[in-house]
Amino acid sequence: MKKFLIAGLCAMVLGAIPSGAQWGPRAIPEPTDGLKDAYKDYFKIGVAVNNRNVSDPDQIKLILREFNSITAENAMKPQPTEPKKGEFNWEDADKIADFCRQNGIKMRGHTLMWHSQIGTWMYQDEKGNLLPKEEFYANMKHHIQAIVNRYKDVVYCWDVVNEAVADSPVYPGRPELRNSPMYQIAGEEFIYKAFEYAHEADPNALLFYNDYNDAEPAKSQRIFNLVKRMKDAGVPVDGIGMQAHYNVYGPSMKEVADAIELYSTIVNHIHLTELDIRINEDMGGGLRFNQGQAQVSDWERTLQQDQYVQLFKVLRKHKDVIDCVTFWNVSDKDSWLGVRNYPLLFDENYKPKQAYLAVKGFDPKMDNFVVAEDFKPSELNQPGQQYPMVNSQGYARFKVDAPKATSVIVSLGLGGSGGTVLHKAEDGSWMGTTDGPMDEGFHYYHLTVDGGVLNDPGTNNYYGSTRWESGIEIPAHDADFYAMKNVAHGKVQQVLFWSKSTNQVRVAWVYTPAEYEKNAKKKYPVLYLQHGWGENEYAWWNQGHANLIMDNLIADGKIQPFIIVMTYGMTNEGFRPGQMPAAAPARPAPGAPAPGGAPQARPARPAGGMGMMMNNGFEEVLCDELVPYIDANFRTIAKKESRAMAGLSMGGMETHTITLARPEMFGWYGLLSGGTYNPDEVKGTGVKGIFIGCGSKEGPDQIRNAAKALQDAGYNAKGYVSEGTAHEFLTWRRCLYEMAPMLFK
Ligand code: XIL
Repeated sequence: MKKFLIAGLCAMVLGAIPSGAQWGPRAIPEPTDGLKDAYKDYFKIGVAVNNRNVSDPDQIKLILREFNSITAENAMKPQPTEPKKGEFNWEDADKIADFCRQNGIKMRGHTLMWHSQIGTWMYQDEKGNLLPKEEFYANMKHHIQAIVNRYKDVVYCWDVVNEAVADSPVYPGRPELRNSPMYQIAGEEFIYKAFEYAHEADPNALLFYNDYNDAEPAKSQRIFNLVKRMKDAGVPVDGIGMQAHYNVYGPSMKEVADAIELYSTIVNHIHLTELDIRINEDMGGGLRFNQGQAQVSDWERTLQQDQYVQLFKVLRKHKDVIDCVTFWNVSDKDSWLGVRNYPLLFDENYKPKQAYLAVKGFDPKMDNFVVAEDFKPSELNQPGQQYPMVNSQGYARFKVDAPKATSVIVSLGLGGSGGTVLHKAEDGSWMGTTDGPMDEGFHYYHLTVDGGVLNDPGTNNYYGSTRWESGIEIPAHDADFYAMKNVAHGKVQQVLFWSKSTNQVRVAWVYTPAEYEKNAKKKYPVLYLQHGWGENEYAWWNQGHANLIMDNLIADGKIQPFIIVMTYGMTNEGFRPGQMPAAAPARPAPGAPAPGGAPQARPARPAGGMGMMMNNGFEEVLCDELVPYIDANFRTIAKKESRAMAGLSMGGMETHTITLARPEMFGWYGLLSGGTYNPDEVKGTGVKGIFIGCGSKEGPDQIRNAAKALQDAGYNAKGYVSEGTAHEFLTWRRCLYEMAPMLFK
């Protein structure tokens, strides 16, 4: 909900959602090129297909756009091609092969010998007795050579033997190989024979041994051992197929890299032959078909995206030995695991997931980027806390103790669905580093531990997204303008004022410049400065350092001192700090007589959208209650020319509405990532000056164009774009710094 609200707000405010922003699953437009294009310098990207996939025009379009290698999901397996001895059925296999021939795509053949999906005639008689070895070999040879010969022109490699290695654990004395009927008849030799028969039929085909749990250390060692024995015996084996039926919790990328490195010591070709990453914790041979969650949560999507992203990073690193990566099925709708396992990069409607974009949109430069190991505790950490840490390049590193957790995600990093997935470190804690440098400045974040949202106990909390979030500060190169320095400091004091319209005591924070106390006669202009959606009256001085920005500007003689008032900009939220505890009856209906005396709790936040939050009586609170209160209790210059209103994001929208509705009250307007004014709407307001600003990552052209239009129309207007920042507090700190000198001139 909240993501949509923010996305909606920004779409309204800025007309476009900036790329790389932290909010929202977005609709992903239909790609114009495919994974195969993104990976053309690395390896082929393949897909396993059934007949329906290559019959439907939409699916054909997708397949041809994305993939440049094809595997028949079932059609070339032993049973489907030769259900009875000598009775071949080529219909399905031919259809897929013809599709590939027509489109110039070479196929991976799958699979010639497997204990599953094989006619029992291959290895036993009608009574169920195992055949003599010679008869089994004759059956096998005839089958293998028939199929290899038939598709020689289009199949360039074969998974000759599938899944012949035993699963873990294997106890001493037990064979390392699966105790299949074929193994019982001939031992390991049947594997060798299968490769020899295939090679005889097509000496040019690359021949693979293919298996699952391919990155599990013990099993990968057994796979290695088998292939090593084959090599030593002169068997024509060219490659190892890692099926790669993985899940969002494992294998670890170290295990994958270790397996690839181990295999690459005996073969020159490694293919990922059946890649999918399911949402539940099963893997490889352990199958929970169509189970898992009824609905996939955002945090699971993040885990999946991360697992895919990290996997492809490892694969790119090993591109010398990896030459094809095949997804097992086109979309979740086709997946052999069932749609609820959510395992692929295309969803059940054949639409690309965010993870697709992340896998495709890698930056080759970042693959070799060396993260500087000069991490220091973030300046916002709680006393004595080492983590989170920040390095000189803007990377953030997190460490969380949660011994029994199965997943920990930090909501910072990874554009799009968002987050840095932490992994179990050797000491049992969860650790992780953002995938790239963060924007400079302040960021809100939280942890998601097994789906539950928590704060990071390492750092302080800041109110944003309607909750106290964790905060981290990536030191900005220009941090000096808001630094706490040895200059004369003003005060930020809390005032509690009675609001008749909402029948409650409300809160504002008032910044008075250092000289305010010393000069008992002087009167000051006032800026009413509003926070954004989900924030509160703490935001501008706590996260924004508005007071320090003012102190520094005043100390440098860059502005004439003025007062800033920061209040809560909504009227319809539930209980919040600084407010009377919720006990009294809800706010009376408009027109109803206010029950005498005691301040009341505000009604709980209604499930309304942005309109609900904004069209909520705040104008009345601000203009008819707070402004008079401030003018009565502080030494203000109580007139329009000396009164400004500005706000960030939603506060900018409020500013826009209220300044235009009450032109007699405010002479100066400021919108910070909060939209623009056009000359027509400010006509006749008598506005003295207008400031509009935003971050360079927020669609800054609107700001530039609007400022120019206002200037051309003769208004005192300033447009400002904060370089390298998005919809975040460094943008607004800089905006305040740029705006303050133009006010009240
Ligand atoms: C699966 C197919 O996807 C299913 O349609 C079929 O019912 C069973 O086999 N390892 C393999 C693949 O090598 O052939 C399997 O394919 C998945 C596991």
